Amino acid sequence: MITKTTIDRIMEAIDIVEVIGEFVQLKKRGANYVGLSPFSNERTPSFTVSPAKGIFKDFSSGKGGSAVTFLMELEKFTYPEALKWLANKYSIEVEETVESHENKEEENHRESLMIVSAYAAKFFHESLLDSEEGQNIGLSYFKERGFTNETIKKFELGYSPDQWEAFSGQALKEGYQEEFLVESGLSVKRDNGTLYDRYRGRVMFPIHGFTGRVIAFGGRTLKTDKNVPKYVNSPESEIYHKSNVLYGLYFAKKAIRDEDNCYLVEGYADVLSVHQAGIENVVASSGTSLTVEQIRLIGRFTKNITILYDGDAAGIKASLRGLDMILEEGLNVKVVLFPDGHDPDSYVRSVGTNAFKNYIDQNRKDFIIYKTDILLKEAGTDPIKRAEVIREVVESIAKIPDSIKASVFIKDCSHILQIDERALLSELNKMRLAKSKKDAQQGAKQAEVAEQYPVEEIPLEKSVKEDYTQEKEIIRLLLLYGSKMIDWDGIANTYIGPFMIAELGDVEFEHTPSKRFVELYSNEVENGVLLDEQLFIHHPDKEIVDLTVTLLATKYTLSENWYEMHKILVPDEQVNMKATILGAIFHLKKHKVGKILDNLRTELQNAEGDENTEILLTQYMQMKKVEKSISDYLGSVIIK
Ligand code: UTP
Ligand code: MN
Repeated sequence: MITKTTIDRIMEAIDIVEVIGEFVQLKKRGANYVGLSPFSNERTPSFTVSPAKGIFKDFSSGKGGSAVTFLMELEKFTYPEALKWLANKYSIEVEETVESHENKEEENHRESLMIVSAYAAKFFHESLLDSEEGQNIGLSYFKERGFTNETIKKFELGYSPDQWEAFSGQALKEGYQEEFLVESGLSVKRDNGTLYDRYRGRVMFPIHGFTGRVIAFGGRTLKTDKNVPKYVNSPESEIYHKSNVLYGLYFAKKAIRDEDNCYLVEGYADVLSVHQAGIENVVASSGTSLTVEQIRLIGRFTKNITILYDGDAAGIKASLRGLDMILEEGLNVKVVLFPDGHDPDSYVRSVGTNAFKNYIDQNRKDFIIYKTDILLKEAGTDPIKRAEVIREVVESIAKIPDSIKASVFIKDCSHILQIDERALLSELNKMRLAKSKKDAQQGAKQAEVAEQYPVEEIPLEKSVKEDYTQEKEIIRLLLLYGSKMIDWDGIANTYIGPFMIAELGDVEFEHTPSKRFVELYSNEVENGVLLDEQLFIHHPDKEIVDLTVTLLATKYTLSENWYEMHKILVPDEQVNMKATILGAIFHLKKHKVGKILDNLRTELQNAEGDENTEILLTQYMQMKKVEKSISDYLGSVIIK
């Protein structure tokens, strides 16, 4: 875990306008900054940053939070990843607590591998640009393939000298440890204990991890000798798990999000050419067939994948099955096939960016339709084969978790297959049933566990209707005034926060984030700590951050309408703090009592005069009294 001291240092250093400014163009407006939401495609800016509070609020998507949550939302970083990104930006050294000796070792180990990889990337890149061999062989090759200096720089392309120890020798000389050189796969150990280079005379493609650090390499030979492997790739290591990595993702993230689509290609060269042509939302699975982890990685940014295939790929049919996996993950898959002999790299280079884009737009086919077409063509008129096609197509459709989407495909495919929609539907239902039986068997174990830890069930209707206005109002007041001193007649020498907590007594909060907020607040009050908004803005619990920011942002950005709409505030709430605070508390209590009364009424109706009726009636009358006294109180203290 990152230490509290480090987190504090990072929090102190953060300038939210500067951080967000790296992703969004911000303009000053009054005390705040505004810009176009990076989370939606808006034309008029509704994205607001408050430097004073250190928060942002995006009114188009409803998202809001601190600089940290911004990075988590936009870059899909985890909390520690976001902190590390900020630490890096502000040159703060990250200290991590030693959870166990082993953890620390592991972390150091990973870090060492990253450092060695970064060094190697630099070595290869410099050797490409600065050495004579690199320029003559490596650079001229890249130039011939049409890669610009900008692309070469951005992707840190390199060249490994055609010698046995150029890299290893230099690395050892500069103090890099043998252990990490070997484990990262950059060097190989000879029987006599000395090291030699894995990559020799190859152009180098560094592979960047999710946060942009180099974690592995692919090296392409420039020889035409068939006995030499075309690519040599880094072995699996603690920092490189092939199945979790997509080549180019780090450089594609932003475009994938903006375009809400990810192009998937096969090779390094395809990624570079397509990216260079200005289509930056492109990644490659690099030699392996697509894995579930890779699909989920893409799914963090978009639900739409478009696969760009080689025209001559004989393996297309074999790959069809693999694509079902993408459907299963709930993503939409489209497919583009290039003319014979072309891959995306060669095609974009031969026709240029615009024609390439047009080609994609005109030839983009939904995967299921595409699969149906291919299989149907193959089956010809053979009825048995056609029946098999139907089964296979429906099998794919059955993988789509969204049943509305699935039914649209059923309709489309019934046209293509010229078969009655109902026949396809019944086939689909059969498969669904079989699948749910299978899932049920697998789920039985989980259900057992769930039984032991029952989850509180919230009736759907209620949870949708309720907006928890009263509960949120309490949180808002705690945030704004909790650490202010009370100075009302009759009550003094205490702070508003602890006073409110005490007054709320055992009122049960139902809105989960509010409930957690109050729990957090009460705990600290018990410890004698007064909390201010900054603690909540930077809290690791995202729901708490969201709630805090929404409440704070609403107040300073929205107009009086909001107050009107919610009927919970007098605009000059600070003038009569006592009325504001007590009003909120009693409104909440009244609301709760109202709900109890509702329940009692229902129970009374159901009791229909049996032995419970009397007890229920007594309870009802008592509650009515409570309600009345609250109303009276509210009437006397609160102006409206
Ligand atoms: P390609 O042969 O299409 O590579 O293999 P490419 O990147 O397009 O290279 P060029 O255009 O010939 O220069 C597709 C991908 O398969 C993996 C690599 O990741 C490559 O980018 N591959 C291929 C290997 O890992 N090893 C190999 O021997 C060949
Ligand atoms: Mn290629």
